[in-house]
Amino acid sequence: MEKITSLAKRRGFVYQSSEIYGGQNGAWDYGPLGIELKNRIAGAWWKEMTRLHDNIVGLDAAILMHPRTWEASGHVENFTDPLVDCKKCKSRFRADQIPQEALAAKKCPDCGGELTDTRKFNLMFKTHIGPAEDTASIIYLRPETAQGIYVNYKNIIQSNRMKVPFGIAQIGKAFRNEIVTKNFIFRTCEFEQMEMQYFVKPGTDEEWFSEWRKQRWAYYEKLGVKMDHLRWHQHGPDELAHYAKDAYDIEYLFPMGWRELEGVHNRTDYDLGRHTQFSGKDLQYIDQDNNNERYIPYIIETSAGLTRNLLMILCDAYDEEQVADKGNDDDWRTVLRFHPDLAPITVAILPLMKKDGLAELAQDIRTELKEDYATDYDQAGAIGRRYRRQDEAGTPFCVTVDYQTKEDGTVTLRFRDSMEQVRVPKTELAARIRSEIKAYKRIK
Ligand code: GAP
Repeated sequence: MEKITSLAKRRGFVYQSSEIYGGQNGAWDYGPLGIELKNRIAGAWWKEMTRLHDNIVGLDAAILMHPRTWEASGHVENFTDPLVDCKKCKSRFRADQIPQEALAAKKCPDCGGELTDTRKFNLMFKTHIGPAEDTASIIYLRPETAQGIYVNYKNIIQSNRMKVPFGIAQIGKAFRNEIVTKNFIFRTCEFEQMEMQYFVKPGTDEEWFSEWRKQRWAYYEKLGVKMDHLRWHQHGPDELAHYAKDAYDIEYLFPMGWRELEGVHNRTDYDLGRHTQFSGKDLQYIDQDNNNERYIPYIIETSAGLTRNLLMILCDAYDEEQVADKGNDDDWRTVLRFHPDLAPITVAILPLMKKDGLAELAQDIRTELKEDYATDYDQAGAIGRRYRRQDEAGTPFCVTVDYQTKEDGTVTLRFRDSMEQVRVPKTELAARIRSEIKAYKRIK
Protein backbone atom coordinates (compact mmCIF):
# COMPACT_ATOMS: atom_id res chain seq x y z
CA MET A 1 0.00 0.00 0.00
CA GLU A 2 2.93 2.34 0.72
CA LYS A 3 4.18 1.94 -2.84
CA ILE A 4 0.73 2.68 -4.23
CA THR A 5 0.26 5.72 -1.96
CA SER A 6 3.64 7.09 -3.00
CA LEU A 7 3.02 6.47 -6.73
CA ALA A 8 -0.40 8.07 -6.38
CA LYS A 9 1.14 11.23 -4.99
CA ARG A 10 4.18 11.29 -7.29
CA ARG A 11 2.09 10.96 -10.43
CA GLY A 12 -0.82 13.15 -9.41
CA PHE A 13 -3.54 10.58 -8.69
CA VAL A 14 -4.26 11.38 -5.04
CA TYR A 15 -2.87 13.94 -2.59
CA GLN A 16 -3.47 14.34 1.11
CA SER A 17 -6.12 16.99 1.74
CA SER A 18 -4.79 20.34 3.02
CA GLU A 19 -1.27 18.95 3.03
CA ILE A 20 0.44 22.31 3.64
CA TYR A 21 -1.43 22.54 6.96
CA GLY A 22 -0.35 19.07 8.03
CA GLY A 23 -3.19 17.26 6.28
CA GLN A 24 -6.85 16.66 7.07
CA ASN A 25 -7.64 13.19 8.34
CA GLY A 26 -10.22 11.24 6.35
CA ALA A 27 -10.13 13.49 3.28
CA TRP A 28 -8.13 13.27 0.06
CA ASP A 29 -7.75 15.33 -3.09
CA TYR A 30 -7.74 13.84 -6.56
CA GLY A 31 -5.05 15.23 -8.86
CA PRO A 32 -5.00 15.48 -12.67
CA LEU A 33 -4.65 11.72 -13.26
CA GLY A 34 -6.86 10.84 -10.29
CA ILE A 35 -9.85 12.84 -11.43
CA GLU A 36 -9.57 11.35 -14.94
CA LEU A 37 -9.45 7.85 -13.47
CA LYS A 38 -12.34 8.57 -11.09
CA ASN A 39 -14.46 10.00 -13.91
CA ARG A 40 -13.78 6.95 -16.07
CA ILE A 41 -14.69 4.51 -13.29
CA ALA A 42 -17.86 6.49 -12.67
CA GLY A 43 -18.53 6.55 -16.44
CA ALA A 44 -18.09 2.79 -16.77
CA TRP A 45 -20.50 2.18 -13.88
CA TRP A 46 -23.02 4.72 -15.22
CA LYS A 47 -22.97 3.13 -18.67
CA GLU A 48 -23.36 -0.34 -17.20
CA MET A 49 -26.23 0.62 -14.89
CA THR A 50 -28.19 3.08 -17.04
CA ARG A 51 -27.35 2.91 -20.74
CA LEU A 52 -27.28 -0.88 -20.82
CA HIS A 53 -30.58 -1.18 -18.94
CA ASP A 54 -33.74 0.17 -20.54
CA ASN A 55 -35.50 0.35 -17.18
CA ILE A 56 -32.88 2.13 -15.06
CA VAL A 57 -32.70 5.91 -14.99
CA GLY A 58 -30.36 8.36 -13.30
CA LEU A 59 -30.72 10.93 -10.55
CA ASP A 60 -28.57 13.54 -8.86
CA ALA A 61 -30.19 14.41 -5.53
CA ALA A 62 -28.98 17.04 -3.07
CA ILE A 63 -26.50 16.19 -0.33
CA LEU A 64 -28.51 18.23 2.20
CA MET A 65 -31.87 16.59 2.83
CA HIS A 66 -34.73 17.31 5.19
CA PRO A 67 -33.60 16.08 8.66
CA ARG A 68 -36.71 13.90 8.99
CA THR A 69 -35.23 11.79 6.17
CA TRP A 70 -32.60 10.46 8.58
CA GLU A 71 -35.11 9.75 11.30
CA ALA A 72 -37.19 7.79 8.81
CA SER A 73 -34.19 5.94 7.40
CA GLY A 74 -33.15 4.85 10.88
CA HIS A 75 -29.78 6.57 10.68
CA VAL A 76 -30.39 8.91 13.64
CA GLU A 77 -31.13 5.92 15.82
CA ASN A 78 -29.02 3.14 14.37
CA PHE A 79 -26.11 4.47 12.33
CA THR A 80 -23.60 4.11 15.12
CA ASP A 81 -20.24 2.51 15.79
CA PRO A 82 -19.18 1.28 19.25
CA LEU A 83 -16.38 3.54 20.46
CA VAL A 84 -13.77 3.32 23.25
CA ASP A 85 -11.03 5.80 24.22
CA CYS A 86 -7.75 5.22 25.99
CA LYS A 87 -7.60 7.49 29.04
CA LYS A 88 -3.78 7.47 28.93
CA CYS A 89 -2.66 7.84 25.28
CA LYS A 90 -5.99 9.29 24.09
CA SER A 91 -6.18 6.83 21.16
CA ARG A 92 -9.68 6.12 19.93
CA PHE A 93 -10.81 2.68 18.75
CA ARG A 94 -13.83 0.97 17.31
CA ALA A 95 -14.70 -1.52 20.02
CA ASP A 96 -15.44 -4.19 17.41
CA GLN A 97 -12.00 -3.78 15.81
CA ILE A 98 -9.70 -4.36 18.78
CA PRO A 99 -8.86 -7.74 20.35
CA GLN A 100 -11.87 -8.72 22.44
CA GLU A 101 -9.60 -9.71 25.37
CA ALA A 102 -8.27 -6.12 25.45
CA LEU A 103 -11.83 -4.84 25.42
CA ALA A 104 -12.90 -7.19 28.23
CA ALA A 105 -9.85 -6.18 30.32
CA LYS A 106 -10.42 -2.50 29.38
CA LYS A 107 -6.75 -2.34 28.39
CA CYS A 108 -5.53 -0.15 25.52
CA PRO A 109 -4.05 -2.36 22.75
CA ASP A 110 -1.45 0.38 22.03
CA CYS A 111 -0.14 1.49 25.43
CA GLY A 112 -1.85 -0.73 28.02
CA GLY A 113 -3.66 2.28 29.55
CA GLU A 114 -7.23 2.10 30.84
CA LEU A 115 -10.04 2.13 28.26
CA THR A 116 -13.35 3.96 28.74
CA ASP A 117 -16.68 2.11 28.65
CA THR A 118 -17.97 1.38 25.17
CA ARG A 119 -20.37 4.05 23.92
CA LYS A 120 -22.37 4.46 20.75
CA PHE A 121 -21.11 7.06 18.35
CA ASN A 122 -23.31 8.29 15.48
CA LEU A 123 -21.39 8.48 12.22
CA MET A 124 -23.46 11.24 10.65
CA PHE A 125 -21.91 14.69 10.32
CA LYS A 126 -24.26 17.17 11.92
CA THR A 127 -24.26 20.87 11.12
CA HIS A 128 -26.67 23.80 11.11
CA ILE A 129 -28.51 25.44 8.27
CA GLY A 130 -29.27 29.14 8.43
CA PRO A 131 -27.94 31.72 10.89
CA ALA A 132 -29.34 30.23 14.14
CA GLU A 133 -27.44 27.33 15.67
CA ASP A 134 -30.36 25.78 17.55
CA THR A 135 -31.97 22.34 17.45
CA ALA A 136 -34.44 23.48 14.79
CA SER A 137 -31.61 24.20 12.37
CA ILE A 138 -29.84 20.82 12.59
CA ILE A 139 -29.05 19.27 9.25
CA TYR A 140 -26.93 16.27 8.29
CA LEU A 141 -24.49 15.60 5.51
CA ARG A 142 -25.90 12.49 3.85
CA PRO A 143 -24.17 9.28 4.98
CA GLU A 144 -25.43 7.37 1.89
CA THR A 145 -26.81 8.49 -1.47
CA ALA A 146 -29.66 5.95 -1.34
CA GLN A 147 -32.17 8.10 0.57
CA GLY A 148 -32.16 10.77 -2.16
CA ILE A 149 -33.45 8.05 -4.47
CA TYR A 150 -36.20 6.83 -2.14
CA VAL A 151 -37.65 10.28 -1.56
CA ASN A 152 -37.75 10.84 -5.34
CA TYR A 153 -39.12 7.46 -6.31
CA LYS A 154 -42.69 8.73 -6.87
CA ASN A 155 -41.45 11.77 -8.84
CA ILE A 156 -39.56 9.47 -11.16
CA ILE A 157 -42.48 7.07 -11.64
CA GLN A 158 -44.64 10.04 -12.61
CA SER A 159 -42.19 11.99 -14.78
CA ASN A 160 -40.74 8.97 -16.58
CA ARG A 161 -43.70 6.57 -16.52
CA MET A 162 -41.61 3.82 -14.91
CA LYS A 163 -43.14 0.43 -14.24
CA VAL A 164 -42.00 -2.00 -11.56
CA PRO A 165 -39.45 -3.55 -11.84
CA PHE A 166 -37.28 -0.52 -12.48
CA GLY A 167 -34.15 1.08 -11.11
CA ILE A 168 -32.71 4.47 -10.21
CA ALA A 169 -28.95 5.04 -10.27
CA GLN A 170 -26.97 7.77 -8.61
CA ILE A 171 -23.34 8.73 -8.08
CA GLY A 172 -22.44 11.26 -5.42
CA LYS A 173 -20.66 12.27 -2.29
CA ALA A 174 -21.42 10.76 1.10
CA PHE A 175 -19.98 11.65 4.50
CA ARG A 176 -19.32 9.57 7.59
CA ASN A 177 -17.50 10.57 10.73
CA GLU A 178 -15.36 7.43 10.66
CA ILE A 179 -13.38 6.68 13.81
CA VAL A 180 -10.64 4.80 12.00
CA THR A 181 -9.47 6.15 8.66
CA LYS A 182 -6.37 4.22 7.70
CA ASN A 183 -5.28 2.43 4.53
CA PHE A 184 -5.09 5.48 2.27
CA ILE A 185 -8.45 6.19 0.58
CA PHE A 186 -10.07 2.91 1.66
CA ARG A 187 -12.17 4.35 4.48
CA THR A 188 -12.55 8.11 4.54
CA CYS A 189 -14.92 10.65 6.04
CA GLU A 190 -15.74 12.18 2.66
CA PHE A 191 -16.16 9.69 -0.18
CA GLU A 192 -18.27 8.92 -3.23
CA GLN A 193 -20.79 6.17 -3.78
CA MET A 194 -22.30 4.62 -6.89
CA GLU A 195 -25.68 3.26 -5.85
CA MET A 196 -28.54 1.71 -7.74
CA GLN A 197 -31.91 1.02 -6.15
CA TYR A 198 -34.08 -1.54 -7.96
CA PHE A 199 -37.79 -1.48 -7.13
CA VAL A 200 -39.49 -4.87 -7.36
CA LYS A 201 -42.77 -6.52 -6.50
CA PRO A 202 -42.74 -8.15 -3.03
CA GLY A 203 -42.25 -11.89 -3.46
CA THR A 204 -39.94 -11.42 -6.45
CA ASP A 205 -37.20 -9.82 -4.32
CA GLU A 206 -35.13 -12.93 -3.75
CA GLU A 207 -34.99 -13.67 -7.47
CA TRP A 208 -33.90 -10.10 -8.24
CA PHE A 209 -31.42 -10.18 -5.40
CA SER A 210 -29.65 -13.15 -6.92
CA GLU A 211 -29.89 -11.61 -10.43
CA TRP A 212 -28.16 -8.40 -9.25
CA ARG A 213 -25.47 -10.37 -7.49
CA LYS A 214 -24.76 -12.07 -10.80
CA GLN A 215 -24.71 -8.79 -12.71
CA ARG A 216 -22.39 -7.01 -10.31
CA TRP A 217 -19.94 -9.91 -10.38
CA ALA A 218 -19.97 -9.93 -14.20
CA TYR A 219 -19.32 -6.18 -14.21
CA TYR A 220 -15.94 -6.54 -12.49
CA GLU A 221 -15.05 -9.37 -14.84
CA LYS A 222 -15.78 -7.08 -17.78
CA LEU A 223 -13.50 -4.40 -16.31
CA GLY A 224 -10.66 -6.91 -16.40
CA VAL A 225 -10.23 -7.08 -12.61
CA LYS A 226 -8.24 -10.10 -11.33
CA MET A 227 -11.13 -12.41 -10.53
CA ASP A 228 -9.12 -14.48 -8.05
CA HIS A 229 -8.90 -11.27 -6.00
CA LEU A 230 -12.69 -11.10 -5.62
CA ARG A 231 -14.97 -13.15 -3.41
CA TRP A 232 -18.43 -13.02 -1.88
CA HIS A 233 -19.13 -12.53 1.79
CA GLN A 234 -22.66 -13.03 3.10
CA HIS A 235 -23.55 -10.92 6.15
CA GLY A 236 -24.29 -12.93 9.26
CA PRO A 237 -27.24 -11.89 11.49
CA ASP A 238 -24.96 -9.69 13.64
CA GLU A 239 -23.56 -7.87 10.58
CA LEU A 240 -26.82 -7.08 8.78
CA ALA A 241 -27.65 -3.36 8.60
CA HIS A 242 -30.87 -2.29 10.28
CA TYR A 243 -32.68 -2.19 6.92
CA ALA A 244 -31.46 -5.44 5.38
CA LYS A 245 -33.10 -8.85 5.07
CA ASP A 246 -30.09 -10.29 3.25
CA ALA A 247 -26.77 -8.80 2.18
CA TYR A 248 -23.68 -9.92 0.33
CA ASP A 249 -20.45 -7.99 -0.03
CA ILE A 250 -18.11 -8.32 -2.96
CA GLU A 251 -14.73 -8.33 -1.26
CA TYR A 252 -11.40 -7.54 -2.90
CA LEU A 253 -7.98 -8.76 -1.81
CA PHE A 254 -6.38 -5.38 -1.04
CA PRO A 255 -2.73 -5.23 0.12
CA MET A 256 -4.03 -5.17 3.74
CA GLY A 257 -6.25 -8.24 3.15
CA TRP A 258 -9.80 -9.05 2.05
CA ARG A 259 -12.07 -6.00 2.43
CA GLU A 260 -15.54 -4.93 1.29
CA LEU A 261 -15.69 -3.32 -2.14
CA GLU A 262 -19.42 -3.22 -2.78
CA GLY A 263 -22.60 -4.45 -1.16
CA VAL A 264 -25.75 -5.97 -2.65
CA HIS A 265 -28.63 -5.61 -0.20
CA ASN A 266 -32.23 -6.75 0.00
CA ARG A 267 -33.71 -3.71 1.80
CA THR A 268 -37.27 -5.06 1.63
CA ASP A 269 -40.02 -2.42 1.95
CA TYR A 270 -38.25 -0.95 4.98
CA ASP A 271 -37.23 2.38 3.42
CA LEU A 272 -40.39 3.21 1.51
CA GLY A 273 -42.47 1.96 4.45
CA ARG A 274 -40.65 4.26 6.84
CA HIS A 275 -40.82 7.25 4.49
CA THR A 276 -44.56 6.63 4.14
CA GLN A 277 -44.87 6.67 7.92
CA PHE A 278 -42.69 9.74 8.51
CA SER A 279 -43.82 11.90 5.57
CA GLY A 280 -47.50 10.93 5.68
CA LYS A 281 -47.37 10.53 1.87
CA ASP A 282 -48.71 7.42 0.17
CA LEU A 283 -45.69 5.80 -1.45
CA GLN A 284 -47.51 2.71 -2.71
CA TYR A 285 -47.00 1.68 -6.31
CA ILE A 286 -50.20 1.32 -8.33
CA ASP A 287 -49.87 -1.48 -10.86
CA GLN A 288 -52.08 -0.29 -13.72
CA ASP A 289 -51.40 -3.45 -15.69
CA ASN A 290 -52.74 -5.56 -12.86
CA ASN A 291 -56.14 -4.20 -11.78
CA ASN A 292 -54.52 -1.25 -9.99
CA GLU A 293 -52.97 -3.55 -7.44
CA ARG A 294 -51.23 -1.47 -4.75
CA TYR A 295 -48.10 -2.33 -2.86
CA ILE A 296 -44.93 -0.86 -1.42
CA PRO A 297 -42.10 -2.17 -3.61
CA TYR A 298 -39.19 -4.06 -2.17
CA ILE A 299 -35.77 -2.62 -2.93
CA ILE A 300 -32.68 -4.44 -4.08
CA GLU A 301 -29.70 -2.17 -3.70
CA THR A 302 -26.27 -2.36 -5.28
CA SER A 303 -23.96 -0.01 -3.41
CA ALA A 304 -20.34 0.52 -4.43
CA GLY A 305 -17.80 3.04 -3.25
CA LEU A 306 -16.45 5.05 -6.17
CA THR A 307 -13.33 6.16 -4.32
CA ARG A 308 -12.92 2.63 -2.93
CA ASN A 309 -13.28 1.28 -6.48
CA LEU A 310 -10.53 3.67 -7.52
CA LEU A 311 -8.25 2.24 -4.83
CA MET A 312 -9.13 -1.28 -5.96
CA ILE A 313 -8.40 -0.41 -9.62
CA LEU A 314 -5.03 1.11 -8.62
CA CYS A 315 -4.08 -1.94 -6.54
CA ASP A 316 -5.31 -4.31 -9.22
CA ALA A 317 -3.40 -2.53 -11.97
CA TYR A 318 -0.13 -2.11 -10.07
CA ASP A 319 2.73 -4.25 -11.29
CA GLU A 320 6.51 -4.24 -11.12
CA GLU A 321 8.16 -6.09 -13.97
CA GLN A 322 11.74 -6.97 -14.80
CA VAL A 323 12.34 -5.92 -18.39
CA ALA A 324 16.16 -6.13 -18.66
CA ASP A 325 19.11 -7.72 -16.90
CA LYS A 326 21.80 -5.04 -16.75
CA GLY A 327 22.00 -4.91 -12.98
CA ASN A 328 20.71 -1.35 -12.59
CA ASP A 329 17.42 0.46 -11.82
CA ASP A 330 16.44 0.48 -15.47
CA ASP A 331 15.98 -3.30 -15.36
CA TRP A 332 12.62 -2.80 -13.69
CA ARG A 333 9.54 -0.91 -14.64
CA THR A 334 6.48 0.01 -12.62
CA VAL A 335 3.38 -0.33 -14.72
CA LEU A 336 -0.31 0.31 -14.08
CA ARG A 337 -2.19 -2.18 -16.21
CA PHE A 338 -5.45 -0.26 -16.40
CA HIS A 339 -8.14 -1.37 -18.81
CA PRO A 340 -7.80 1.15 -21.69
CA ASP A 341 -11.38 2.30 -21.03
CA LEU A 342 -10.30 3.38 -17.53
CA ALA A 343 -6.79 4.69 -18.16
CA PRO A 344 -6.52 8.44 -17.42
CA ILE A 345 -4.43 8.92 -20.58
CA THR A 346 -5.27 6.69 -23.52
CA VAL A 347 -2.50 7.70 -25.85
CA ALA A 348 0.75 9.63 -25.42
CA ILE A 349 2.45 11.21 -28.40
CA LEU A 350 6.22 11.36 -28.21
CA PRO A 351 8.48 12.95 -30.83
CA LEU A 352 11.84 11.15 -30.97
CA MET A 353 13.56 14.57 -31.18
CA LYS A 354 12.33 18.09 -30.61
CA LYS A 355 14.11 19.33 -33.73
CA ASP A 356 13.76 18.86 -37.49
CA GLY A 357 10.00 19.37 -37.40
CA LEU A 358 9.30 16.17 -35.42
CA ALA A 359 7.75 18.09 -32.49
CA GLU A 360 5.38 19.94 -34.82
CA LEU A 361 4.44 16.70 -36.57
CA ALA A 362 3.74 15.06 -33.20
CA GLN A 363 1.62 18.03 -32.08
CA ASP A 364 -0.44 17.74 -35.29
CA ILE A 365 -1.05 14.05 -34.58
CA ARG A 366 -2.08 14.88 -31.03
CA THR A 367 -4.55 17.47 -32.27
CA GLU A 368 -6.12 14.86 -34.54
CA LEU A 369 -6.41 12.25 -31.77
CA LYS A 370 -7.68 14.67 -29.13
CA GLU A 371 -11.30 14.55 -30.29
CA ASP A 372 -11.48 10.80 -29.65
CA TYR A 373 -8.96 10.11 -26.90
CA ALA A 374 -7.42 11.52 -23.74
CA THR A 375 -3.92 12.38 -24.93
CA ASP A 376 -0.62 13.43 -23.45
CA TYR A 377 2.45 14.90 -25.11
CA ASP A 378 5.99 14.46 -23.85
CA GLN A 379 9.19 15.54 -25.56
CA ALA A 380 11.50 15.62 -22.51
CA GLY A 381 14.31 13.08 -22.06
CA ALA A 382 15.32 9.77 -23.60
CA ILE A 383 12.54 7.84 -25.30
CA GLY A 384 12.97 4.83 -22.96
CA ARG A 385 12.45 7.06 -19.92
CA ARG A 386 9.37 8.59 -21.50
CA TYR A 387 7.89 5.13 -22.09
CA ARG A 388 8.51 4.31 -18.41
CA ARG A 389 6.78 7.51 -17.32
CA GLN A 390 3.75 6.55 -19.38
CA ASP A 391 3.83 2.96 -18.04
CA GLU A 392 3.69 4.37 -14.54
CA ALA A 393 0.69 6.50 -15.45
CA GLY A 394 -0.98 3.43 -16.99
CA THR A 395 -1.11 4.81 -20.55
CA PRO A 396 -1.96 1.84 -22.78
CA PHE A 397 -0.64 3.30 -26.07
CA CYS A 398 2.35 5.45 -27.01
CA VAL A 399 2.88 6.90 -30.46
CA THR A 400 6.44 7.79 -31.42
CA VAL A 401 7.10 10.19 -34.26
CA ASP A 402 10.52 9.80 -35.90
CA TYR A 403 12.39 10.60 -39.10
CA GLN A 404 10.62 7.81 -40.96
CA THR A 405 7.32 9.55 -40.20
CA LYS A 406 8.52 12.47 -42.30
CA GLU A 407 9.31 10.13 -45.18
CA ASP A 408 6.39 7.72 -45.29
CA GLY A 409 3.80 9.05 -42.81
CA THR A 410 4.04 6.04 -40.47
CA VAL A 411 4.52 6.18 -36.68
CA THR A 412 5.48 3.63 -34.03
CA LEU A 413 2.58 2.42 -31.92
CA ARG A 414 3.84 0.94 -28.64
CA PHE A 415 1.70 -1.23 -26.38
CA ARG A 416 2.08 -0.76 -22.62
CA ASP A 417 1.50 -4.36 -21.53
CA SER A 418 3.59 -6.29 -24.05
CA MET A 419 5.94 -3.37 -24.88
CA GLU A 420 5.61 -4.50 -28.50
CA GLN A 421 5.92 -1.89 -31.22
CA VAL A 422 4.34 -1.82 -34.67
CA ARG A 423 4.49 0.68 -37.53
CA VAL A 424 1.13 2.22 -38.41
CA PRO A 425 0.23 4.89 -41.01
CA LYS A 426 -0.70 7.98 -39.01
CA THR A 427 -3.94 8.25 -40.95
CA GLU A 428 -5.00 4.87 -39.51
CA LEU A 429 -4.00 5.57 -35.89
CA ALA A 430 -7.39 6.55 -34.48
CA ALA A 431 -9.11 3.50 -35.96
CA ARG A 432 -6.32 1.14 -34.91
CA ILE A 433 -6.43 2.36 -31.31
CA ARG A 434 -10.21 1.95 -31.29
CA SER A 435 -9.96 -1.66 -32.45
CA GLU A 436 -7.16 -2.38 -29.96
CA ILE A 437 -9.33 -1.06 -27.11
CA LYS A 438 -12.27 -3.19 -28.22
CA ALA A 439 -10.14 -6.31 -28.41
CA TYR A 440 -8.21 -5.57 -25.18
CA LYS A 441 -7.45 -8.58 -23.00
CA ARG A 442 -5.32 -8.28 -19.92
CA ILE A 443 -2.19 -10.38 -20.33
CA LYS A 444 -0.80 -10.16 -16.78
N1 GAP B 1 -26.62 2.48 0.92
C1 GAP B 1 -25.98 1.38 1.51
C2 GAP B 1 -24.66 1.68 2.03
O1 GAP B 1 -24.26 2.84 2.11
P1 GAP B 1 -22.50 0.59 2.97
O2 GAP B 1 -22.09 -0.86 3.00
O3 GAP B 1 -22.48 1.34 4.23
O4 GAP B 1 -23.96 0.58 2.34
C3 GAP B 1 -21.61 0.93 0.56
O5 GAP B 1 -21.62 1.34 1.90
C4 GAP B 1 -20.23 1.09 -0.04
O6 GAP B 1 -19.77 2.43 0.14
C5 GAP B 1 -19.16 0.21 0.61
O7 GAP B 1 -19.15 -1.08 0.04
C6 GAP B 1 -17.90 0.98 0.29
O8 GAP B 1 -17.45 0.66 -1.02
C7 GAP B 1 -18.37 2.42 0.32
N2 GAP B 1 -18.05 3.06 1.61
C8 GAP B 1 -18.76 2.99 2.75
N3 GAP B 1 -18.16 3.70 3.72
C9 GAP B 1 -17.06 4.24 3.18
C10 GAP B 1 -16.02 5.10 3.67
N4 GAP B 1 -16.03 5.57 4.92
N5 GAP B 1 -15.02 5.46 2.82
C11 GAP B 1 -15.01 5.01 1.55
N6 GAP B 1 -15.97 4.21 1.03
C12 GAP B 1 -16.98 3.83 1.82
